[in-house]
Amino acid sequence: MFSPETQQQVDCLLSRYPIRRNALLPLLHLAQKENQGWLDSKWVNHVAELCEVSPTHVEGVATFYTMFRFRPPGKYHLQVCTCVPCCLVGGPEILEHLEHKLGIHTGHTTKDGLFSIEEMECIGACAYAPAMIVNEDYIEQLTPEKIDQLLDSLATTPQEQETHA
Ligand code: FES
Repeated sequence: MFSPETQQQVDCLLSRYPIRRNALLPLLHLAQKENQGWLDSKWVNHVAELCEVSPTHVEGVATFYTMFRFRPPGKYHLQVCTCVPCCLVGGPEILEHLEHKLGIHTGHTTKDGLFSIEEMECIGACAYAPAMIVNEDYIEQLTPEKIDQLLDSLATTPQEQETHA
């Protein structure tokens, strides 16, 4: 199920874990990345097989962590931090601005599938608050103006210039 390149990473990972179930979290990350940012039952079953555990065990672990998703995110998944340091410098207002601008609430995806929003606990960028992650890129010291520019630029980014799927 993994692409040949990712399968190499899977093999490498499994060779490092004599007890296969200990490779569960990194394998879930790879599976989610391979499946355009989310996990479905097909991938849960595949990871379960690789780790020699039941699919229920994999589901139990994956649903415990907020970084694993069970429905497709937008092409650009916006993870906005509203934890205390970000909250003190406008994190919730940034989230509200995004929701207003995109016409969706947190946890939802725009109709065109371009953007989805998720509210996050600390993402480790407190010194540059308020902050968010767009796919895998950190965007820091956010302002409503910066958000507007970013959304405009992402909405018009040609396919070939994308940095992350
Ligand atoms: S509280 Fe927002 S990055 Fe830490």
